[in-house]
Amino acid sequence: MRTHYNTEVSEKDIGKEVQLCGWVNSRRDHGGVIFIDLRDKTGLIQLVCDPNDNEEAWKRADTVRDEFVLIAKGKVRYRGEGLENPNLKTGKIEVVVSELTIENRSLPMPFDLGDEKVNEEIKLKYRYLELRTKKSLEIFKLRSKAAIAARNALDELGFLEVETPILTKSTPEGARDYLVPSRIHHGEFYALPQSPQLFKQLLMVGGFDRYFQIAKCFRDEDLRADRQPEFTQIDVEMSFCNQEDVIKVAEHLLHNVFKACGHDIPKAFERISYDEAMEKYGSDKPDLRYDLSMVDVLDIFAKSTNEIFSSIAKDPKKNRIKALKVPNGDNIFSKRQMKGFEDYVRKFGAKGLGYFQMKEEGLKGPLTKFFSEDDLKEIVDRCDLKVGDVVFFGAGDKKVVLDYMGRFRIYLAELMDIIPQDEFKFVWVVDFPMFEIEEGKIKALHHPFTMPKDLNKDIEEISSIAYDIVLNGVELGGGSIRIHKEDIQNEVFKLLGISKEEADEKFGFLLEALKFGAPPHGGFAIGFDRLIMLLTKASGIRDVIAFPKTQKAQCLLTQAPSEVDSEQLKELGIRIRKTAKEQS
Ligand code: AMO
Repeated sequence: MRTHYNTEVSEKDIGKEVQLCGWVNSRRDHGGVIFIDLRDKTGLIQLVCDPNDNEEAWKRADTVRDEFVLIAKGKVRYRGEGLENPNLKTGKIEVVVSELTIENRSLPMPFDLGDEKVNEEIKLKYRYLELRTKKSLEIFKLRSKAAIAARNALDELGFLEVETPILTKSTPEGARDYLVPSRIHHGEFYALPQSPQLFKQLLMVGGFDRYFQIAKCFRDEDLRADRQPEFTQIDVEMSFCNQEDVIKVAEHLLHNVFKACGHDIPKAFERISYDEAMEKYGSDKPDLRYDLSMVDVLDIFAKSTNEIFSSIAKDPKKNRIKALKVPNGDNIFSKRQMKGFEDYVRKFGAKGLGYFQMKEEGLKGPLTKFFSEDDLKEIVDRCDLKVGDVVFFGAGDKKVVLDYMGRFRIYLAELMDIIPQDEFKFVWVVDFPMFEIEEGKIKALHHPFTMPKDLNKDIEEISSIAYDIVLNGVELGGGSIRIHKEDIQNEVFKLLGISKEEADEKFGFLLEALKFGAPPHGGFAIGFDRLIMLLTKASGIRDVIAFPKTQKAQCLLTQAPSEVDSEQLKELGIRIRKTAKEQS
C-alpha cells in the first residue's frame, strides 16, 4: 500500500509523488491548513492538508484524530526557510496531500502513549498500544537483532537448532511446574518444561553433537523484577567437551550478540570462584562494575577484648567477621546515615554493624577500645585504610554475614552513585558447590545432573563442574558439565536422598538413555529476556517481553488465567472444589 516507509522519504524525493501509510501521531490546525505527523515503524513525517491544494483531503483531515490509520498520497516538497524541524529525520520536507484515506478510526487513547508514569496495569491491559511507542519498538528491534545474531553465531559453530516438547514431564529446575491436564488420560498431567534440560541431554545421546534452541521455559515461582513465569532461554548443549569448550562457545555467542547490538565487549571474560565471590562480595552474582570488596578480619577480632567478637571468632568455619571499606566514607556519610546503615543490615539478620573511621590521628569509633594499638594497626594495613575512609564490620554466622554485607555493598554503591551505567561487566562464577543444605535437607545447587568434581569429600566440600555467567550483578545464565555415567548419577541421587523408585519415576527415561552409550556432554542456558533487559537498560523484564504477565502471573490483556466452561472441565475429568472461603 506504500511507496516508502516514512523516514525513507528525503530531500532527494522533492517533487515526487509518494504514498505513505501509518498512524496519526498528532494533528494541528493552523488557520485552516492542517498538519498531521504520520507515524510508522520508522518514524514521523509531516503531511500538509491545505484546502487550496485539495479540498476533499483537507475536509477528511479535519475529521482525523490521534491514532487514526491513514493512507496518504501526495507530493514531497521542501518545508521552507525557517520551517525545518532539526529533531526529525524528515524535518526538511513535508508531503502535500492530494488523496487521503481514513483506513480506520480509533477510540481516544486510554493513556498518553508517551507518558512513562502511567499506571502499569493500564499499560498491560492495552499492551498493543504501548508497543506503538518508540521506546517499545526500539526494544523489540534490538531483541530481534540479538536473536538472529545468536542463531548465526551458533550456526557458524555447527550447532543444530532443534525444538523440544512443550507438553512434557516435569524437569528438575527447582521451581513449581505448570501442569496441563490430559483429556485422554484422566487424572494425568503434562508439565510445561522449566527448561529443555533433559531433552537436550537426550539429543546428545542421540548423537546430534551440538544443539541449540531459543526455548520457552515455564516456572511457577515468586516473581521479581527479573523473573517471569514464562520466559526465553538461549539453550545450548554440546558433546565431547570440557568446561573450557563450553565457556568459549558462550563467550563467542555473547560477543556476537552484543556486537550485533552495537556494543564491543571483550572476547573472554574474567572468572572468579564461587567461594571468592561469596567471601569478597557476599554474592554468587557479584557486580564488578565497582570496587567495594570485603576482607576477612576474623583473626584480628579474635584478639579483641570484646566477648561477642572473640566468641564469634572461635568458630572460623561456621562464622565470619568481614570488613568493608568505603574510601572517603567519613567525608560522605553523616552520623545519622551511619545509624541508618545499621537499621538496613538488621533487616537481613545482622545483630549490629560496627565501624571505624580513619582520622589523621588513627582509627576512631566506639569499638576501638576493645583492640590493642598493634591490632588496630593490623586492621589499617589489612584494609589498606587512608585518612577519610570508613570501614564497616559484619560479624556472626557465615551465611547471614555474607548475605547482609553483600546487600549492604550494593546499597552503599547505589547510595554513593558509583555504579557506571554504561558498562557491561561480565564475570564467570566457577567451582560451585555441588550441594547446599537447606533446612537440614541436601539439595543440588544447580540440578542433579551436574557432574561433581570429587564425591569422596564431606558433602559441603564437594564442588561441581558448574558455571554461571553474571552481567552487572545479574545472573544471566548458567550451565554445567553433565553426568553421563549411570553409576555417578545413582550416587548423586543417593546423596540427595532420591530413592531409586523416585528417580526412575521422575527421570527413568534419562537414566535409561545413559545406559546406551551417552557421550560426555555439557552446556549452558542464557536468560534471553534478562539479556535484552540489560542490553536495553530497561527498568524491568516486562518491558522486553511482548505480552508479559504481572507480578501475580496474570495477563491483563487476555485476562488469563480464567475460568473455563463446565464442558471443558468434564472432558478433562476435572471438578473444581471451592474452598469454604470461596463458597461463602
Ligand atoms: P537456570 O535455571 O540457571 O539453568 O536458568 C538459566 C537462566 O535462565 C534465566 N531465568 C529466568 N529468566 C526470567 N524469568 C525466570 N523465571 C527465569 N528463571 C531463569 C536466568 C538464568 O540464569 N537447564 C539449566 C541450564 C543448563 O544447565 O544448561 C537452566 O535452566 O537468566
